[in-house]
Parts: sequence; C-alpha cells; structure tokens
Amino acid sequence: MTTHTGTDLNAAAGYLRQGELVALPTETVYGLAGNAFDEQAVLKIFKLKNRPTFDPLIVHVASVDFAGEIAQAFPESARLLMNRFWPGPLTILLKKKPVVPDLVTSGLDTVAVRMPSHPLALALLSMVEFPLAAPSANPFGYISPTTPEHVLKHFSGLIPYVIDGGPCRVGIESTIVGFEDDTCVVYRLGGTRVEDIRAITGEVKLTVRHTSIPSAPGMLASHYAPEKPLYVGDPFELLKEFDGNRCAVIVLNKNGRIFSHGVDVFELSADGNLDEAARNLFKTMREIDHMPVQIIIAEKLPEKGLGKAINDRLQRASIK
Ligand code: TXA
Ligand code: MG
Repeated sequence: MTTHTGTDLNAAAGYLRQGELVALPTETVYGLAGNAFDEQAVLKIFKLKNRPTFDPLIVHVASVDFAGEIAQAFPESARLLMNRFWPGPLTILLKKKPVVPDLVTSGLDTVAVRMPSHPLALALLSMVEFPLAAPSANPFGYISPTTPEHVLKHFSGLIPYVIDGGPCRVGIESTIVGFEDDTCVVYRLGGTRVEDIRAITGEVKLTVRHTSIPSAPGMLASHYAPEKPLYVGDPFELLKEFDGNRCAVIVLNKNGRIFSHGVDVFELSADGNLDEAARNLFKTMREIDHMPVQIIIAEKLPEKGLGKAINDRLQRASIK
C-alpha cells in the first residue's frame, strides 16, 4: 500500500468510509483514526498498533451534541467541562450507549470521548457521518508522534493516508477525567491542567497509576518509552553514576548550569516555559533515541501546570 501525505480531507474521508485508517493530526499528538462504529476498522487499529484489545480507545467527536449520541445522559460537571475545554485536550469518560462497539471500550461500560481542537481534525470529523476511534499513532508502548514524519516512520506503507497538520501544538496527550458519583477523577495527566479543571469542578481526585500492574484498562504504567534506558533524577548525580557511558540529558533549561564536555544536553524550553517543554518532550525523546547514546537522563520538572504531565510521562518512560 502506498501512503500519501497531504491535506486532502475528501480523500481522507473516502478512506475512512471504506473502513481504512488515516493518521489524524490533533493538537495533542497524531492519532491513528478509524470509523468508531465499524468493528473491522477498529480491529485494524489494534492490529497495526500491536495494542492489546484490553486497552480501550478514545472516540473523537465533532461536537457536544455528537457526544450525546454515543454517551448516555452525563453529569452536570461533564457538561461544564465540555463547555469550558472543548474543543481541546480533555477526554471525558461517560457511560456508553450500545451503538459504541464493545471492542472500542474493551468491554467497559464507559466510553472515552474527546473533541479535538486541531482545525483539520474538526473539519474531517464534521465531514464524516461517524465518530473516529483514534489512539496515538505509535506502536503500543513507544513514544507518541507529534509530526507527520513520526507517523510515517511507523506506518508508511501500512495506511493509505497521513493528514499533514504540522507539528502538534500541545505535544502530549489529552488529560483523561471521569466521575465517581459527582466527583471528578483524573485518570491521566495531560494537555489540560488539573488546576484549570479544579476551577470548574471543585474537588478533583487523582487516580494516576505509577505501578507496573495495570488493575484497570487505560492505566498501564510503562508507556511512552524510548528504546534506550531512561532515568529520572538529579542530572549531575546520574551522570556520575553512569560515568563512562555516552549520556544524553533532558533538562527544562540549563539555567546557568555547566555540563561536562561530551554530554548531549537537550533543553525543553530555554525560557523555562512548561507549555513549550510539553510541546518539545516527545520530539526530543525520539531524537535522542535515534542518536548513538547509551543512557537517557531526565530531570524532574516543576510540579505545576503541564510540568505534572511531563513528569508523569518521564516516570512512565523510565519504567522497563
Ligand atoms: O490526546 C489524546 O488523547 C490522543 C489523541 C490522538 O486524541 N489519543 C490518545 O489515545 O492518547 P491513546 O489510545 O494513546 O490513549 C488513550 C488512553 C489509554 O490509556 C486508554 O486505556 C484510555 O485512554 N481509555 C480509553 N477508554 C477508556 C475507558 N473507557 N476507561 C478508561 N480508560 C480509557
Ligand atoms: Mg498512546
């Protein structure tokens, strides 16, 4: 199969209607999208990603109204969150309607719903007659893609079309929230800040897993991982520990610190801006993974704003 890349949404919609998959740019990361109502298309997603079918997919919609077609009546706070953050990097777990295949939700009674804000994603979603199931367009467990080139690296020749939406603006996946009774629960840290969610819902419970034993779908600890071993901690201490190895170091910024010659240092944001750091994180991890280094060292970022989500990704990338 030849993979074409471009911005021809009619072509992309045509492939989707035939049950094929296309790579979809979103503001967070690129998705591997298929018709969420077509089980054969959804099966292709799991197969191509080499993803276990117990790990459910996010369903992307063009509007709040469409969310109502796949989910049952939602809590008032879900509606408030949609009004405030959609379109945008927030995924909401809602009780599913039977129209959503069990394959999409791995048999759970909730469906993960998100309205992305990338203009090409929104335009495509309003052209097709169905919502799009789309996980990140990377092989299961590897770093998520934030450019069309990243997608092509894995799926060239395996899907007919990659929609070129340029580099992703946010750069890490959406925040995932659900509800226990009426309390908002954060299941995955991501592109929408917990502080901003709390401002809408009041109390927020954090249920973000860090162990390697997944007790529930959607919460696998090891993820987003480069092939090289990655360690999180004080860069200077880790450099001492791995003396004699070729190391690359990921820092927020150097901030006047001097690293010894021969160490490759990657600043996520020279100005220390956490949004910019999120945008650069996966790109940087991929770049280093392709360099002849043996060890990747990353410092922990400030635990605020997107820093929390970045630390979560670094932590998961460090679990083998
Ligand atoms: O930003 C994003 O969310 C990107 C873009 C493409 O939209 N998508 C994404 O999908 O990150 P994926 O499949 O890589 O991650 C989705 C996560 C998985 O950890 C999955 O287990 C969880 O969402 N998930 C999906 N449905 C769920 C459900 N019903 N309950 C709990 N977790 C769920
Ligand atoms: Mg993923």
